[in-house]
Amino acid sequence: MADLTTNYMGLTLHNPIIIGSSGLTSSLNEIHELEKNGAGAIVLKSLFEEQIMLETQHKLEEAAKNDFIYDAYSETLDYIDVHIRDKQLSGYLEHIREIKASVMIPVIASINCITSHEWTYFAHRIEEAGADALELNVFVMPFNFNDPCDRNMKTTVDILQKVKRKVHIPVAVKISPYFSNLGNVLIQLAGAGADAMVLFNRFAGPDIDIEKLEVSVANRFSAPSDLTNTLRWIAVASSRIKTPLAASTGVHHWQDVVKLLLTGAQVTQITSAVYLNGPEIIHQILDNIHHWMDKKGFNYIDQFRGKLSQNKTDNPEVYERLQFMKYFSEIR
Ligand SMILES: Cc1cc2nc3c(=O)[nH]c(=O)nc-3n(C[C@H](O)[C@H](O)[C@H](O)COP(=O)(O)O)c2cc1C
Repeated sequence: MADLTTNYMGLTLHNPIIIGSSGLTSSLNEIHELEKNGAGAIVLKSLFEEQIMLETQHKLEEAAKNDFIYDAYSETLDYIDVHIRDKQLSGYLEHIREIKASVMIPVIASINCITSHEWTYFAHRIEEAGADALELNVFVMPFNFNDPCDRNMKTTVDILQKVKRKVHIPVAVKISPYFSNLGNVLIQLAGAGADAMVLFNRFAGPDIDIEKLEVSVANRFSAPSDLTNTLRWIAVASSRIKTPLAASTGVHHWQDVVKLLLTGAQVTQITSAVYLNGPEIIHQILDNIHHWMDKKGFNYIDQFRGKLSQNKTDNPEVYERLQFMKYFSEIR
């Protein structure tokens, strides 16, 4: 049987299927199910900077209202602020310790942050708790129209550099596709020492309820049609950047995993597919990949990884063409 063993940021995975950061990795029972069904590694639900900051602020306001704090600018405030943050964090750290004590697969912690201020502190504690690696989910959407084009890139690189100075475990950066020059972002992150890059994070979009005349949240889960953008960028980036790439968004079927490996992904992350089909889908995907590799005569993944990346395929322009005039003009 084909060997699916994969190295990801120095971690040895039984296979290239990583469960993406989400509520799927919030409970120990569910994590055991993911491991039992063959997950190569898991990314824990993110610790959100915003959530911690809001919680801290809320509790401080409550305390101030109840006269527990006499002077809003006193040292007491600093102490309480740090204490509340510590409590939030201690739950997450305990979760890491518990998981590490009961699973064999690599455990990647995740921090969702929008500034570089709190990161280093969290990252260091997460390393101490025993996480095998850290994924930085940098969540800056370009909604401020007055920001210069490279503002988000600078923030992302700044965060990575600060975290890398604090921890020794490998650090991956999970980014969105919303940059004015994505390729340059990847080059900058590689230069700043990213051990891997996760392409891409996916955000829930808005929808409109035309009966209630209300705005609502759409598409919590990805669809198979989301894969093509991931495929494009993995194929293009893997041809030009040495840093390992984790493909994320739109991976729903075993064929998607094979396609992403062929375009040069080191690993693939799946989230929506597990929500929609249960953890058994991991097992099914792996069985089918084994079957496909046996049929094709591949004994291990490196025999075909990147075979169809942009620089290896006979048809590299397909990855860059956006309009396909020839094909569109054929449609009547
Ligand atoms: C319910 C849900 C919760 C998620 N929570 C997080 C999170 O805490 N941190 C994060 O980095 N990504 C989070 N994600 C994004 C996923 O990790 C993943 O990047 C995204 O869903 C695209 O992958 P998919 O197409 O396999 O679903 C979440 C996704 C879903 C559906």
